[in-house]
Amino acid sequence: MLASPNYKSILGQTKIHLSSVDSTNNYAANMLKEGLIKHGTVILADEQTNGRGQRGSVWQSEPGMNLQMSLILTFKNLNIVDQRFINSFISVATVKFLERFGVKAKIKWPNDILVDDKKIAGILIENQLNKQQISSTIIGIGLNVNQVNFGDLLATSLKNERGSFVSIAEALDSLLLQLNVYFDKFQKNRYSELEKLYFDYLWGFQKVRRFKDKNGIFNGTITGISESGLLIIQTNEGEKEYDIKEVNFLLEEQKD
Ligand code: BTN
Repeated sequence: MLASPNYKSILGQTKIHLSSVDSTNNYAANMLKEGLIKHGTVILADEQTNGRGQRGSVWQSEPGMNLQMSLILTFKNLNIVDQRFINSFISVATVKFLERFGVKAKIKWPNDILVDDKKIAGILIENQLNKQQISSTIIGIGLNVNQVNFGDLLATSLKNERGSFVSIAEALDSLLLQLNVYFDKFQKNRYSELEKLYFDYLWGFQKVRRFKDKNGIFNGTITGISESGLLIIQTNEGEKEYDIKEVNFLLEEQKD
């Protein structure tokens, strides 16, 4: 009998553990440029001095308390239109990982991971393109593990949700397991399965919710993601497509 695939052996087989770095995504990008990195490598850091978030924001994390990592994937023939499925598999894997720890999470489009509207993980995906193909991608994941206080930020951690300490090594191993499971589906082009799972966990999917765009607050229903990765919202004025900077979600009092 053939052995079942050892998912763990692909992503995260090589790990580079840094005590301090500006940003694990920057470190990964430099190594990629120099041709020094292989598919599936994970860079992790105890501390980032310039952790980056989406839309030019800063990613803050107490040193040594949380998981801060970048995963590098390289591709031979991946069309740019399929980039949204990279997002699907990463987001779903992160939610599934949290489920294993008894924590129910939602995905706020495109890839904020929330527990009761509080952010537990953030994802920053940076693709390197070659014409219409994605040659590689750097997936930065910041996961709040043992940090307890977040000041004014609407954020939480595994420890806050479970009430007990989780070692970062254990969190990393479990997350890598799920990343390998869902990367396997991605690699096998099981895109509709990934998209269905993504929608199962997507905040506000097929529900009337309140949003804000440049014209003000409105009610709408998220009905899908366009081919180019835009969020589709059905409104009173018909279907609209939004880029990440163009719409805000009014989360308060709108629990899923
Ligand atoms: C976001 O929610 O805006 C995305 C946050 C992504 C943070 C991670 S931490 C590891 C990696 N390195 C970075 O500089 N950012 C990502």
